Amino acid sequence: METDLLVIGGGIAGLTFAIKCAPFARVAVLSKRERTETNTFYAQGGVAAAVAPDDSFESHARDTMAAGDGLCDPAVVGEVVRDAPRAVRELEEWGVRFSAGPDGRPALGREGGHSARRVLHAADATGREIQERLLERASAHASIRVLEDKIAVNLVTARKVDPAAPGPDRCLGAYVLDRAGGRIEPWRARVTVLATGGAGKVYLYTSNPDVATGDGIAMAFRAGAEIANMEFIQFHPTCLYHPQAKSFLVSEAVRGEGGVLRLPSGEPFMRRYHPDAELAPRDVVARAIDNEMKARGAAHVLLDITHRGREFIAGRFPNIYEKCLSFGYDMARDPLPVVPAAHYACGGVRAALDGRTSVGGLLAVGETACTGLHGANRLASNSLLESLVMADRAARLARDLLGERAAPAPSIPPWTTGNARDSDEMVVVSHNWDEVRRFMWDYVGIVRTDKRLRRALNRVENLQREILQYYWDFIITADLVELRNIATVAELIIRSALRRKESRGLHHTLDYPRRDDARFRRDTVLMPGEEGG
Ligand code: FAD
Ligand code: SIN
Repeated sequence: METDLLVIGGGIAGLTFAIKCAPFARVAVLSKRERTETNTFYAQGGVAAAVAPDDSFESHARDTMAAGDGLCDPAVVGEVVRDAPRAVRELEEWGVRFSAGPDGRPALGREGGHSARRVLHAADATGREIQERLLERASAHASIRVLEDKIAVNLVTARKVDPAAPGPDRCLGAYVLDRAGGRIEPWRARVTVLATGGAGKVYLYTSNPDVATGDGIAMAFRAGAEIANMEFIQFHPTCLYHPQAKSFLVSEAVRGEGGVLRLPSGEPFMRRYHPDAELAPRDVVARAIDNEMKARGAAHVLLDITHRGREFIAGRFPNIYEKCLSFGYDMARDPLPVVPAAHYACGGVRAALDGRTSVGGLLAVGETACTGLHGANRLASNSLLESLVMADRAARLARDLLGERAAPAPSIPPWTTGNARDSDEMVVVSHNWDEVRRFMWDYVGIVRTDKRLRRALNRVENLQREILQYYWDFIITADLVELRNIATVAELIIRSALRRKESRGLHHTLDYPRRDDARFRRDTVLMPGEEGG
């Protein structure tokens, strides 16, 4: 298998990149399941862009940095917010239809941490609209192949092929498991791009779909790339509390339109935590809910938008309204039971805004990357935006990289590991999956302590030994690949959290309850072979 650009991941970041590269390169885009199964597809709120006449780039940048709690890179923030209007215009040119007001201009939503209405949306299914239009556009290019059921297992670097390879290490492609055939294919590429999205599945409760197992972060780490800020896992405050709902998200836009958080007794509580109440930054709201639930032994709190009336609710939030009805909740009549769940990885593969990582020939774009935009806590609806801006910059970098004269890439040797089968394997893998996700939820959640983090580290290290043994001895399956990756990502989160002896943004520890700018106003960077904590 050979291509110019190997794009691992077909969400907003990977597809936008592919479309922009199609005129000058052969592009293969891999999706590990169906092409619509991405975090992008499930995005509800929208894309932030300062397009209203009374809004400004300065205000969008200020809100982004306030949410990021002192850790955003101001240059990156400035570049992203200034490019936002172009990015959304381009989406419109590609066929994306955002909801419009009576004057035909985009209807702008409001979400937590934003001081203005600035979120372009397609009702409450923005991600679906974007994913479908991008897939249509990609399939119109003969030079783009979008391949389903292909799971990248490992990146291949020159040093892995030949430990004596001269010069700095560089990525040559990846080993990819073809789910249908059960075979591992070596893919050779002049540039490899990680666009694998988030890692919500590391936690027991998450808004993310099953594909979000942090594969790109784990693969990059094994290939020697720098990984940054993994302690900053964002918990979305309001996922539907229902045994069959799989933490279905109830968009922050519901609070933006007046939704009130209440205790089970009906009492509102957010004013006690922040002057912006329900529209405080997400870390504040999630911690407040967590605190109230623990203090009262409550299983959930309530999100109440009944006062806006059926016509408004069903018109503005048709998808959420229908979904809640299917679980027996009528949003126009019933306050919804909601709980926080893991939602977004602010950290990831350390990358410049053009996707360049610390490994040659390897780019990272979208949620899997960490650029400095989000700092310690992402501002709502800045993620789809970051993916668009990064994909644009990365496509220009890819054109330059392909234009450089390079020695022909060495071929990639075939995959060799054990080929034994074991009837216990499935049981052990699914047990270990459950165990990682449960202890991450219990010990590495919204509120942390060093003691709980060390306990989690101990557990993950033991599990990793067991997983590695399976990995080398037995036939590789998709579940085993993902288990290995969630264990690696769990370890990265725990080690990063142990290093940060302060509370900032999404990292809140009872042992160091205050922010400490003198010692910790910097990124946490991990590299293979380093011990943390
Ligand atoms: P994704 O869209 O997640 O795509 C990842 C791709 O990588 C998939 O194709 C997957 O199959 C593939 N992949 C993963 N691992 C492998 C592998 N090993 N091999 C091959 N392929 C692989 N952000 C906003 O800005 N606004 C919102 O309104 C918003 N709402 C959200 C609502 C929900 C419910 C969720 C879960 C997230 C929301 N977010 C929102 C966050 C945002 O959707 C994501 O951060 C963004 O879509 C990530 O895009 P991506 O292209 O980086 O990754
Ligand atoms: C939401 O609609 O609440 C999600 C927005 C986001 O994660 O940016």
